Amino acid sequence: MELYIKDNKEAVNNEVSSLIIDLVKKNKNAILGLATGSTPIGVYNELALDYKNNKTDYSNVKTVNLDEYINLPKEHSQSYYSFMNQNLFSKINIKKENTFLPNGNGENHLESCSEYELILKNHKPDIQILGIGSNGHIGFNEPGTSFDSTTHIVELKESTRLDNARFFNSLDEVPTHSITMGIKSILQAKTIVLIAFGKNKADAVYKMIKGPITDDCPASILQTHPNVKIFLDKEAASLL
Ligand code: GLP
Repeated sequence: MELYIKDNKEAVNNEVSSLIIDLVKKNKNAILGLATGSTPIGVYNELALDYKNNKTDYSNVKTVNLDEYINLPKEHSQSYYSFMNQNLFSKINIKKENTFLPNGNGENHLESCSEYELILKNHKPDIQILGIGSNGHIGFNEPGTSFDSTTHIVELKESTRLDNARFFNSLDEVPTHSITMGIKSILQAKTIVLIAFGKNKADAVYKMIKGPITDDCPASILQTHPNVKIFLDKEAASLL
């Protein structure tokens, strides 16, 4: 694991967005693994700004997202489909048909998982952006998830629903289930870039980097991946 501890979020956002922009400039057919949550928003803003100023070309780039809520309409402002359109896809020249997210509104969620796993088989990310949950989850792979998991249905932990309640009007509105890339699926990316900001993440960050590799902290499996870069602000790094 390569560790980068920066003074503030802006420094992290600059470095991570540069990694992505450099990759896309070098490889016009790059495959980006993307994440949602508040953490990557600054990086997406930097990509949008760079597109505005420099017209970095995303017309052949493809993206795969980590996860999606189940039974939250696509049009809902907090669906990850809407999140990606609002924060990134509408601001760069990526083609809609080149952007993939799990389908949380299908008739058969198990089938949606298999369909997404097939998409991932054909789209292994050159770079996968990750945030981390305060309980150490990556994507929506909650503590206790098998390291061998592929795309699957998750019942969200109460702590995760509480963390994400800030984006909804009330806790009741936060979906109870999601579809997420599994841990095995995530580890297929050539490079993994995990970003964490703030004191609320410090404990999970400590366990991910210094703790044993255990499914109690799903992010600890990243210790086994050959090419992981961890970008932290000082608060997220405060227990290291
Ligand atoms: C959600 C997402 C994760 C994300 C995590 C942290 O549960 N499924 O992919 O990493 O929350 O979110 P935030 O970045 O808002 O702290």
